[in-house]
Amino acid sequence: MKAIIPAAGLGTRFLPTTKGVPKEMLPVLDKPVLQYVIEEAAAAPACDGSVVILSDIKESIESYFQPDPAYHSRLKKEQHHEACETAEKLGALLTYVYQDAPRGLGHAVHCAASKTDNEPFYVLLADVVVPNHTILQELYEVSQAHNGASVIAVFAVPDDQISRFGIIAGTCEEILSDSGIVPSDDAAYDKPGAVWKIDSMIEKPKRELAPSRLAIFGRYLLSPRIMELLSTQEPGAGGEIQLTDSLVRSLEEEPMYAYVIDPNEGYDTGTIPNYIAANVHMALADERYAALLREALADVFA
Ligand code: G1P
Repeated sequence: MKAIIPAAGLGTRFLPTTKGVPKEMLPVLDKPVLQYVIEEAAAAPACDGSVVILSDIKESIESYFQPDPAYHSRLKKEQHHEACETAEKLGALLTYVYQDAPRGLGHAVHCAASKTDNEPFYVLLADVVVPNHTILQELYEVSQAHNGASVIAVFAVPDDQISRFGIIAGTCEEILSDSGIVPSDDAAYDKPGAVWKIDSMIEKPKRELAPSRLAIFGRYLLSPRIMELLSTQEPGAGGEIQLTDSLVRSLEEEPMYAYVIDPNEGYDTGTIPNYIAANVHMALADERYAALLREALADVFA
């Protein structure tokens, strides 16, 4: 099964930088955001490669993951070769599809239709980094426990953020624990580990119309039927072809589950404040940078 990684957006929140560098190539600590996402997909259960959706301004992404003997000949230190080779090895697991115009997440995902062989597929939004690779494993376990059903990662958000996300409605029927999936006796349980059966969902609702505070996070494991439904999906919120709208249509035909993640499992890098925060969190968790950053922060707050 394939992982689909949409990376075709203009990245306008990061202008002017993104006029010259795709937003997915901005570094978190020592490597591009997209490299974390591709590493996560490569480690996912049953995943045999990733399809990266690009636009014509993103060709530098392909170059980055390709071997470049001329560039290597200019590198002197062994560790510099190794750093490049890590990215180049990942490149061998990638295929690329070019999206002709920005027509929404659903359209971008559907661009990979010919590559998914009518099998289930993962979707990883490229502005979220999940350093410990936990979430796709969890989605896979929940899906396996439900005959291969679609499972999407969700997280509880505060009221004032609801209108930025797709929001689900449903009930908590189970909890994924260390000993596997066990029944839940609290239909509204929205803490990490909760597994909800989804009744409906809505893309970017007004706060007062939101059926819950569980927001779609950016990691999905989807059934092949979703790809078929995307082929006939009409534009929705913002005039774009929304993945969420095809997920809603699929609910008439097949069950879908949501898995509540721990928000500390992933970092959003999609806005400048969140990007800065992701770097700080990850630097503090990395022994190469933690002590120096603590010192610098102590100076700032002294
Ligand atoms: C997309 C999805 C939305 C999800 C969000 C997560 O929206 O359409 O359902 O909650 O990603 O980041 P976007 O942020 O691309 O507008």
